[in-house]
Amino acid sequence: MPCLTPAYRAVRPLLFQFQPETAHGLAFACGRAFQSVPGGTSLLATLAGAPAPDLAREVCGLRFPSPVGLAAGLDKGAELLPLWKALGFGFVEIGTITPRPQPGNPKPRCFRIPEEALILNRMGFNSEGAEVVARRLDRRPAGLIVGGNLGKNKLTPDEGALDDYRAAYRLIAPRVDYIAINVSSPNTPGLRKLQAPEFLKPILEGLLELRKELGLERQPLFVKLAPDLPFDELDAIVEAIAASGISGLIATNTTLDRGIVSDRNRARVEAWGDGGLSGAGLYGKARAVRNRILDRLPKALAFQACGGIGTAAQAAEALSDGAALVQVYSALIFEGPGLVGELNRGLAARS
Ligand SMILES: Cc1cc2nc3c(=O)[nH]c(=O)nc-3n(C[C@H](O)[C@H](O)[C@H](O)COP(=O)(O)O)c2cc1C
Repeated sequence: MPCLTPAYRAVRPLLFQFQPETAHGLAFACGRAFQSVPGGTSLLATLAGAPAPDLAREVCGLRFPSPVGLAAGLDKGAELLPLWKALGFGFVEIGTITPRPQPGNPKPRCFRIPEEALILNRMGFNSEGAEVVARRLDRRPAGLIVGGNLGKNKLTPDEGALDDYRAAYRLIAPRVDYIAINVSSPNTPGLRKLQAPEFLKPILEGLLELRKELGLERQPLFVKLAPDLPFDELDAIVEAIAASGISGLIATNTTLDRGIVSDRNRARVEAWGDGGLSGAGLYGKARAVRNRILDRLPKALAFQACGGIGTAAQAAEALSDGAALVQVYSALIFEGPGLVGELNRGLAARS
């Protein structure tokens, strides 16, 4: 019963009257209300349609009901897990979660360009902190794979990054199915520098050690990369990751490249200031990065494709390029909750 998309198209003009963060707050309030009403999520699940059984797949020892997942940043605090499951997502990456709470950057810090299905954000890891999110995860629903995306606090100096990742890992890892290390947000000063092998290697070693100490050896660990790395640097990073013993890679995060915005909107975007761009125009760049990575990544490591994916054809293309899973964020904002069912049905029809 695919009626969610027309319903969203009807309310979208009203929702987009509000600033993105206000609209986000309203949508989350509705989501929380839906979750608290008995039968609310079951109704939603009926409207959205469950993923076809043959979409299920095993990746890194985990059984994903669908390869379509929600990318990090939308549900940073794991507030709407039952709702995401009802919409048909096979998995959700929560976060980015920082060890200690922090407010993120001053507002406004998120902007949309609806006619290009693009978003600019400089949220800067607004996070309730790992303790609050860990408590919420204790009540997570069954039947949905949850990844925990971890970051460092803004005020932590670069040399303290490993301690931050370890502090967040200790609280979050025992409560999720996989962990993603975010070293690619452009909105925390210096963070992307940590992608370089000389910084990345000790972070991964330190986390693998902690994983062992906590008895979580079988839990997959991923690193999330930016789309803006020169290919020679990207190659060295992929080599270091392949040698590190972690499970795989997620690419990509948002881009700093204003070239993905059309000429007529470029000045407007420049005027908004700093931040990373995501959405439709990122697809080509993210695909080029993914194919560069997949050409070099040993087959034993898993790859999650992210960046500009908004149609079943693009999701199918990412999977046939060699991705094990796909993640979406911006397209959900522009297309609405019916997108998940559309992607699932489109992938099932192609399989
Ligand atoms: C408003 C906003 C906030 C985001 N916050 C995070 C975050 O906290 N951590 C993260 O790893 N990625 C974050 N992202 C990046 C997305 O997870 C994704 O990598 C990026 O948006 C590209 O995918 P898309 O084109 O499907 O949106 C954010 C994206 C947006 C639009």
